[in-house]
Amino acid sequence: MIYTLTLNPAADLELQIDEFAFDSVSRANSSRLDCGGKGFNVSRMLNNLGVESIALGFIGGFTGQRLASELGKMNIQCQFTQIAGETRTNVTVVEAGNKRHIKVNEAGPNISPEELSNLVEQVKQNLNAGDWWVLGGSLPKGVSASFYAELITLIENAGAHAVLDTSGEALREGILAQPSLVKPNLEEAQELLGLSSEELTQTQGWTQALLAMGPKNLVVSLGKKGAMIADEHQCAEFTSPTIVEANPIGAGDSMVAGLVWRLSLGESLSQALPYGLACGAASASRQGTDLGSLEQVEQLRKQIN
Ligand SMILES: Nc1ncnc2c1ncn2[C@@H]1O[C@H](COP(=O)(O)OP(=O)(O)OP(=O)(O)O)[C@@H](O)[C@H]1O
Ligand SMILES: [Mg+2]
Repeated sequence: MIYTLTLNPAADLELQIDEFAFDSVSRANSSRLDCGGKGFNVSRMLNNLGVESIALGFIGGFTGQRLASELGKMNIQCQFTQIAGETRTNVTVVEAGNKRHIKVNEAGPNISPEELSNLVEQVKQNLNAGDWWVLGGSLPKGVSASFYAELITLIENAGAHAVLDTSGEALREGILAQPSLVKPNLEEAQELLGLSSEELTQTQGWTQALLAMGPKNLVVSLGKKGAMIADEHQCAEFTSPTIVEANPIGAGDSMVAGLVWRLSLGESLSQALPYGLACGAASASRQGTDLGSLEQVEQLRKQIN
C-alpha cells in the first residue's frame, strides 16, 4: 500500500473576476475549490494512474470536512486525524484572461501535543513492512522541524519505505533519518548544501555530498530539463519529455507519485525515473491544478530513453 501524509493541508479557493477594483464589491465569474497539499496531490496523481493510496493528515472544522468530502468523491481513501482548529483556506483572486492575481494564504491551525500524538498513533497502526509512505509539504504550527525525521525512523524501522518531499529545516533534519528516497528540486538541493547555483555547477560530486547526509536514494528534479538520480553506486541525468508547459506547479508531486508507483512494483530507481519524469511532464502540461492522465503518462514515457 502507498500512504500519503499531508500535515498542513489547505482548501485552495480560486475566484475569477473581470478586473481588480479596490474599495468596491467585485462579483466572481467563476470559483473553484481544490484540495491543496503535497500529499493530497500525490494521492490525486496516483488515482489518475489507477493506483490505490491512503491519505493521512490533519483535518479540522468545516473546511477540513469539505476537503475530506472532495477527496472521498475522487475515491481516495482517507484516515484523517481530527484537530480542534480549522483547516486553512488559501484564496487566489485572478483577473479574467489570467492577467494579474492576488494570493493570500491563511496561517493555518496550531497542532496540540495531543493531536500530534494521535497522528503518530494513526501512523503506527498502519505500519507494515514493504509499504511506501510519502511525507510531503510544510509543517503546521506546533510541529517541530524534527517531526518528519521521527516519522521516517518509525517507518524505516518497520521495514517500510519513507519518501520525503519538503524544504528548509524539515528537509535538512528529515534526510538525516535516512529515508528510502528524497526528492528535492534544484533550489532545495542548493539550500541543503549551502551553495549558490553558480557554486553548485562548479562542484563535482554534489549529489554524493547530498547522499552522504543520509538518504538511501536521491532524485533531484530540474524542472523542464529533467532530473538527476543518485545512489551509492551511480549518478545519472535524465532528460524530461518535451511538452507545452501550462502550469508546472505540482509537477514535483506528480513526479513523486510516478516514482513511488513504480518503486512499489519492485522496480529500481533508474527503471522508475522515466515514469516520474513522464508524470511530472504530464501534469506540467495541464492547466491549473489539473494533473496528468495515465494515457498521457504512457505516451510521454515512450519518449524517454
Ligand atoms: N515544462 C516542463 N516540461 C517537461 N517536464 C517538466 C516541466 N516542468 C516539470 N517537468 C517535469 O516534472 C518534474 C518535476 O518538476 P520540478 O523540478 O519543477 O518540481 P518541483 O519544483 O518540486 O515542483 P512542485 O514542488 O511545484 O511540485 C521535472 O523533473 C520534469 O520531469
Ligand atoms: Mg517540490
